[in-house]
Order: sequence, then structure tokens, then C-alpha cells
Amino acid sequence: MFQSLQALPSDPILGLMAAYRTDTNPKKIDLGVGVYKDADGNTPVMTAVKKAEALILEEQASKTYIGPTGAAEFNDAIAELVFGKPLLESLGKRRVTVQAPGGCGGLRLAAEFIYKANADATVWVSDPTWANHVPLLGSAGLKIEQYPYYDYSTHTVRFDEMLACLSKIPAGDLVLIHGCCHNPCGADLSHEQWQQIKDVALKQGFTVFIDLAYQGLGDGLEEDVYGVRLLAEALPELIVVSSCSKNYGLYRERTGALTLISENDNAAAIATTLIAAGARAMYSMPPDHGAAIVATIMTRPELSSEWDAELTAMRNRINGLRSQLVAQINAAGVDTDFSFIEREKGMFSFLGTNVEQVQKLVNDYSIYLVNSSRINVAGINDSNIEYLANSLAAVLKG
Ligand code: LMR
Repeated sequence: MFQSLQALPSDPILGLMAAYRTDTNPKKIDLGVGVYKDADGNTPVMTAVKKAEALILEEQASKTYIGPTGAAEFNDAIAELVFGKPLLESLGKRRVTVQAPGGCGGLRLAAEFIYKANADATVWVSDPTWANHVPLLGSAGLKIEQYPYYDYSTHTVRFDEMLACLSKIPAGDLVLIHGCCHNPCGADLSHEQWQQIKDVALKQGFTVFIDLAYQGLGDGLEEDVYGVRLLAEALPELIVVSSCSKNYGLYRERTGALTLISENDNAAAIATTLIAAGARAMYSMPPDHGAAIVATIMTRPELSSEWDAELTAMRNRINGLRSQLVAQINAAGVDTDFSFIEREKGMFSFLGTNVEQVQKLVNDYSIYLVNSSRINVAGINDSNIEYLANSLAAVLKG
């Protein structure tokens, strides 16, 4: 049965990790997969996380099952982080948060739920979007379409075109929006644009589905959820998938959540049974350790302030690197204007190079980035920035 199978190409993002690891060039740079790196190029465990793990080791009294919807303490902590206390109070039981195995698990859980709610639903994703959105949502049976998003020549959001497209999307369909730190382009929506999205969603009746994988890595923990909170306040229904991979550095612990806001308490209670059944059918229940870490941090003020300070340092470092990279590219004698990198948010930006130029960077310079020219800004540091800018300048000159 297995003999006739054909091998698949490696994952466009994760495949780069393996290629980078086996490269022996001492100058190699990893700008591929979206993980935070410090000034030494390491992805350390956050101190608040280490302390929480020590407490868990000491205090955890049982490893019995928790259940398909995960730990209530974690779900409450994430809901408060995303929506804030006052909004949570006003949403009451219309809002349900369910633990999931990472952001990916949350997206897949949401997709299974959407398919049960409306098997004919189309999910509209931004052009471009994160490469894994399509397989994650599509393999649940959902149809996928794109709305215009990024203008590669002006490095801005094609908002008029986006809005024109959204104005034709009917009730029953979903519009997937990146909550902040757009992956892959780094171009985020302004407050005014979020307001207009709210208006068109209310008018058309489609359901907004927010992927929130980078809260705290753009402008700040509160600032990054402006759009999420605005829509949660105004729309009858909303889906939000959040991830703890990046802002708590819990990548391999697979820690995330799916929040659903329904039109009324009864609809929310019914939806929860469907989500729980979906989780049970796919993986029974989510892994506990990462969620226990987050709950431990968020329920202890001294640990949550420590985590907040560490996250702030990460965000400041990324934003500082954005400015440094632009300056270094200018210093390398490149004529093209790269100042957009400074204006974009989160881990990612496009360099704007074509596939051939990307392949040159990978093969001739050992600089690893996705074919779309997406770079993980956090992979830059003092010892590689000059080499990166000079290599880019050489490739651009042909
Ligand atoms: C990325 O976009 O690089 C990250 O979200 C990691 C992943 O799973 O693709």
C-alpha cells in the first residue's frame, strides 16, 4: 500500500530550518522560520517561563485528564489578555474560550467547527497570507478565496481594493484577518481601517475570523488588539485564534486558544459542545504543560510583570533591528528605498527580491529566507547585519 506513494516537497517554511542546520558556512543567517532570536542568535526560554515551570514541578499534584476544552485557568487568562476585563464582562457567556494545541491547532479546531456550522462556507484570506493557512483550513473541507491585501510596489495595504472585495462577501462566509503583525508582510491595518472593516462586516453579515499569533510583538499588548476588541464589541459573532508560541516563546509546547463570540448565550453553549466534540475527535485533549505555564504566569502578578518586561524587550529589539537594517542597507549603497521595513510590524517583512534573487541569497550567501522574500527580522543581529546588507546589495546589483 505504501510503495506507490510519491514524496512531497518540504514545507516552504519549516524546510528552511533543516537546510540551515546542515549548512557549514560560518556566516550563515537564519531569517526563515518565525521564531524570536536574541542578540546572540539564540531562542532562549523566557525567565518567567522557567520560574513558572519550577513552580509547576513543585506544585502539580496530578496528571489526570483535564478535558477537550483544556484548563479553565488558562482559558480565562488568555481571554483576559486578548479582550481585557471590561469587555469580557460585557460579553458574558456569549464568549467562550477553548484551549488548543498551538495556534495551528486552534485554526484547525475553528475550521472543523466552521465546517459543521456551514459546510458551504468560503474562508477569505488575505493575499498574501501565512503559507499554512490554506492547508490548515482547506483540509477541513472549507473553500478558500483571497481578498487583496498587500501592494508589493508601495509596501502598503491595498485597503480600497480589500474593502471593495469585502463589500461583496455574503453572510455565511468568513473573512480571516491577521490581528496584528501580518504574516508574511508586516503591514498592519490602521484604526480607521479596522473601523471600516467593522462597518462592512455589520452591513454584509459575514463572520470575521482573526488569527492573533503575535500579540505584544507589534506596538504593545494592548495596542496590538485594538482591532480584535473593536470587532468583539460591535459584531454579533467573531472567531479569534490566539497563539502563545511567540509571545511566551512556547513554540514546541503547542499552546493556543480558540475564542468564539456568539450572538447569544444559548448559541455559545451549543457551539461549545461542537467545538469540544471536534477536539475529542481530532486529539481528545490539548497538551497541558504550556497552558499550565501561561496560567501560572498570568495568575501571579510578579511573574506576569516579569513576562511583560521580557516581551517588551523582545518587541523593542525587533523594532530597533528594523531601523538598523534600513540604515545598513542604505550604507551598503542600495538605491532602492527600504524604509518600509521600519514602518512594518512584528517579525516579518518582504525584502521584495524575486525568487531567483532569494535563491542566490540562500545558495551563494547562506542567508535563509522564504521564496516569497519574507524575512524574520528577529534573526538579524550585530554580527550578521553588515553581511546581510552587503549580500543583499550584491544580489540586487546582479
Ligand atoms: C512562521 O510563519 O514562520 C511561523 O508561524 C512558524 C510556522 O509554523 O510556519
